[in-house]
Order: sequence, then structure tokens, then C-alpha cells
Amino acid sequence: MKILVTGGAGYIGSHTCVELLNAGYEVVVVDNLMNSKQEALDRVKQITGKDLLFYNVDLLDKKALSKVFLEHDISAVIHFAGLKAVGESVSLPLKYYHNNITGTLNLCEVMEEFGVDRMVFSSSATVYGHQDCVPFHEELSLQATNPYGRTKLMIEEILQDVYVSNNNWSIALLRYFNPVGAHLSGLIGEDPNGIPNNLFPYITQVAVGKLEKLSVFGGDYSTHDGTGVRDYIHVVDLANGHLKALEHVLNKTGVNAYNLGTGKGYSVLDMINSFEKTTGKTIPYQITERRPGDIAISYADPSKAKKELGWEALKGIDEICRDSWRWQSQNPNGYDTKLERQVTK
Ligand code: NAD
Ligand code: UD1
Repeated sequence: MKILVTGGAGYIGSHTCVELLNAGYEVVVVDNLMNSKQEALDRVKQITGKDLLFYNVDLLDKKALSKVFLEHDISAVIHFAGLKAVGESVSLPLKYYHNNITGTLNLCEVMEEFGVDRMVFSSSATVYGHQDCVPFHEELSLQATNPYGRTKLMIEEILQDVYVSNNNWSIALLRYFNPVGAHLSGLIGEDPNGIPNNLFPYITQVAVGKLEKLSVFGGDYSTHDGTGVRDYIHVVDLANGHLKALEHVLNKTGVNAYNLGTGKGYSVLDMINSFEKTTGKTIPYQITERRPGDIAISYADPSKAKKELGWEALKGIDEICRDSWRWQSQNPNGYDTKLERQVTK
């Protein structure tokens, strides 16, 4: 069975391709490499010993996308492709709306044209915005607080409307909490451009000596140690959640949202401590001002995914720290091996 993976060269996409290939699916990747490297896909092949097809196609190029569907009998689509940096989305909202929303509209139109009506979509816990209580469950009212979040919210609504117009569709809206970690092989992992915005790549880059010290954004939240609490989910657990969601959409129609999280919250200081303990590296840090827009606590109620998809996260924070460090220490410059050769010369 052939699965089209948009954004398959990216962080979560590449890990999902590994699990898809291991499970016996044929994989066709569409990615314009605007935030990824083709090397990631070569490493997916290396890990699995299996081949996949790659098309350097932009979802905004509907004609090129149609050609992929013409050449392949696609059974379902896992749709990762999108821009994801919150801060950048505030300064470049039109770019985010155009890429994420127009890209998804093109994809849905082409899917409809070719009679493909099964989709797993990458949404985000960001659609919960600021809530008064944790854990977050799928029935809470949604509210995005920035253009990136609004693209996710709008796409969820667009996909609901697509289903209402044609009940043959089957769509899973996966709301990820905080994806972290890397594949056990150390061959694929997160490779952010420039200085990382997110906590985990920042910690690993401090550990490898690329950054001097971590700023902990806020020490006065009402949490057990004053620092922000999040639900960190291992990317391989997350990838497996996509396989469970894929089986679900292949067998049933409807549109459903699922939280993919662990149900446990850890603070920034918990994560630093766990990283130091499991890797033996010291992470220098200082507590600074809160980051505007941040919330104190976010973690999932993952019971719906367990009940309906038969999925739950299995890996804990020690494994997350170990695997992230293996990836970062083996690939200090991410997929940019040329840079490594220059450094070691
Ligand atoms: P990523 O940037 O590593 O992967 C996204 C991929 O999509 C990249 O390879 C990029 O080149 C590609 N892409 C973007 N726009 C495209 C277009 N128009 N046409 C073709 N390819 C395009 O990001 P990721 O962390 O793997 O995230 C995957 C998805 O999950 C995104 O939609 C993101 O918003 C969502 N998500 C991510 C997180 C997270 O923390 N990583 C959390 C919640 C949701
Ligand atoms: C970010 C995104 C959110 C997305 C989520 C999952 C922002 C503002 N929000 O949220 O839209 O859904 O990732 O990918 O980018 N922290 C530090 N120092 C740092 C970096 C982070 O102390 O250098 C803290 C943050 O204040 C937070 C925690 O670490 O308490 C996690 O931060 P981050 O990894 O950026 O994730 P989110 O804030 O959950």
C-alpha cells in the first residue's frame, strides 16, 4: 500500500517514514526542502534498508503535485508539510497563511480529483491556546494566539468542512504536544536552522558547545519549581501514533482530533536535570524574563488516542535525553556533513 508523506524529509516526517517502511508500507515523499535536507531521506533508507520515492515538489505547485498522484496509486496521505516557527509567523503572517493553508487546499483538491480521501494531518497543541486547567482534552474550546497557530486551527476547520461535504473522507487531526528526541540509531533527528527556538535543541546545542548557556524563560510561574511545564513526547512514539492513526483512517470514515502526548508534564529544570543525569554533560543556564506568549503549564489528556487508536507513548524523559544527545553528539552540525569536514580539517 502506497502512502504519500508531505514534508517527509522534515523532523517528524523522516521518523514517520522509518516506521512506515518498517511496517511494510511503500512511501512516496513530497517535500520542497525549504526546512530540511534530502540527506535525512538517505539516512531513512540506511536505517530501514528499504527504498522510498522522493519528489522535490512544493505543495503550492498544484500541477507538479497532480503529477505525483498521476504516477502513483496513493491510498492515504500523511500531511506534515508546513512552516512551524511561531515567532517568524508573527513577522511573516502572509507567508505562513499562504504556505500552510494554500498548500493544504491544493493538496485536498488534488486528493479529491484522484479519489484519495484518507488523511492524517499534523495539528498542534497550540490550538488549545491559553486554558485554565490541565490536562488538555480534545473537547476544549480552541483558540490560537499567533498566525502559525491560526493556520493549524483554520486547517482543522477546513478539513471538518471537507468531511461534512463528503462523508467518504476520513481524517485524523493529530494535536502534538512537544516532540523531542531522535531515532535510536543517531542517524536522524531535529536539525533546526540557526539558533533554536525550542527548548530541547537549545539544550543539546549547549551540551555540544555550539551555544554558551541556556536562558530559562521565567522562574516565577505557579509550577512546582517556577519554570514552565510541558508534555515532552519522544518523536518515535509520535511517529508510531501516525501509524495507528493511519490504520484508523484506512478502516473508518469521519473526522477526529487526537492528542498525541504522554499525559505527564515536566518543567524546564526537570528536563535540564534529566539531561545532565543521563548524559553526564553540564548545562549552564540562567533564569531570565518570561517569553511573551508562553503559558505556565501544558500537558495532554491522551486517553482518546489510547481508546480509539490503541496508541500510547512508551518512552520517558531519560530515553528522550539519551537519544537527543546521541543524535546531537554524532551530528554536531546536523545533516550538514560538509561543515563537519571543515571543522575537523
Ligand atoms: P519540519 O520543518 O522539520 O518539517 C516540515 C517539512 O515540510 C519540511 O521538510 C519542509 O521542507 C516541508 N515543507 C514546508 N512547506 C512545504 C511546501 N509548501 N511544500 C512542500 N514541502 C513543504 O517540521 P516538523 O517538526 O517535522 O513538523 C511537521 C509538522 O508538524 C508541521 O506541520 C508542524 O507544524 C507540525 N508540528 C510540529 C511540532 C514540533 O514541535 N516539531 C509541534 C506541533 C505540530
Ligand atoms: C512551542 C511553540 C508552540 C508549539 C510547541 C510544540 C512557541 C512560542 N511556541 O511551544 O506553538 O506548538 O513549541 O512544538 O515557540 N524554554 C526556555 N528556554 C528556551 C526555550 C524554551 O526556558 O531557550 C522554555 C519555554 O518557556 C517553555 C519550555 O521551555 O516553558 C518549552 O518551550 P518550547 O520548546 O519552545 O515549546 P513550547 O513553548 O511548548
